[in-house]
Amino acid sequence: MSTPASLLCLGIESSCDETSLALVDEQGLLCHVLASQSDLHALFGGVVPELASREHLRFIGTLFDELIARSGKSIDELRCIAVSRGPGLLGSLLVGVAFAKGLALGLNIPLLGVNHLHAHLLAAGLESPIVYPALGLLASGGHSSIYRMTSPDEFLLLGRTLDDACGECFDKVGNHLGMRYPSGVLVDRAAQRGKPTIRFSLPYVHNDNLDFSFSGLKTQVIGYIEEHLAELSYPKPVRDVQSLPQEICDLCASFNHVIAQTLVVKLERALAQNRDVQSLVLAGGVAANATIRGELADFAKAHELPLLMPKASLCTDNGAMVAYAGFLLAKLGYSHPLSLETIPRGRLIPNDMQRNPHGVS
Ligand code: KG4
Ligand code: ZN
Repeated sequence: MSTPASLLCLGIESSCDETSLALVDEQGLLCHVLASQSDLHALFGGVVPELASREHLRFIGTLFDELIARSGKSIDELRCIAVSRGPGLLGSLLVGVAFAKGLALGLNIPLLGVNHLHAHLLAAGLESPIVYPALGLLASGGHSSIYRMTSPDEFLLLGRTLDDACGECFDKVGNHLGMRYPSGVLVDRAAQRGKPTIRFSLPYVHNDNLDFSFSGLKTQVIGYIEEHLAELSYPKPVRDVQSLPQEICDLCASFNHVIAQTLVVKLERALAQNRDVQSLVLAGGVAANATIRGELADFAKAHELPLLMPKASLCTDNGAMVAYAGFLLAKLGYSHPLSLETIPRGRLIPNDMQRNPHGVS
């Protein structure tokens, strides 16, 4: 049974192609449901925005009912509704935001529009609390960024991708190898069966900034495949890495290693500029990658800093990270009015939260 002080927060995620809802309170993550559309979009080689928003609309109500039924909680126990308000696909975000507004209005409880990118990083705190200030590396399908995190409501962007995001680079190389979208996870599995025998050069590191650029690496790797591996035959589309020739696994291991090394170089530089940092956070879909997790763990150990990462299943888009970010922000007394705006990819998320000095109870 919840005590009256329990801050039960519902989180809603619908920014891309996962519809997901979760409940978080003082005990942590209570319940989590997710409907993925990846099989549908795989048919088109990428997310089709119009289809994505229709699918969100089709699933969101049923998922909400299932979440409440599975959690054993009643709707009246909800104390706050958090929703990804951007960045993402506008039509997809609107489905989650409209659903959240309806619930907040109907239940007369606070609404919180969560920055999807901050939520990815904050999700690491579901494993063990983030020690601030932290350096956060977000590597996902749409973003590769480094943040200085001072508290759950204070993020400073230190570096970002100038072109392809890290996950996009995985997906494009995977696509060239005949793997189904999104192929990061298959490239990761193939890499674990291979050795980094091919020397690709680290992209965009001969500068003094914290930005990333992965499009050159993508061209380099695809060029190598065309020149050296095009003759290899194996079943396509690749659904399972068992059937891949060793040369492909070695290519994946080499590519994966270069990505991990590039992230480490930029993180090392960020650390040199932020010597007061107390912990490192790795999040976003690409944070599920075994090579990257391993190389970042070594890096953190060498610097005697704790490395916090969401568990692999909470690295890709999910409602738990939104519920947890909402929970933390509600604890600090924040909320949004029902006029909360939805922010598509490419537009800056405004800092327009309202603060009630007494917090939410
Ligand atoms: O964070 P996310 O679910 O969605 C965005 O907000 O972008 O990230 C999805 C991205 C995709 O590009 C996917 O291929 C990549 O994360 N990804 C991985 C792995 N699992 C997912 N990339 C490398 N290794 C993985 N294990
Ligand atoms: Zn995401």
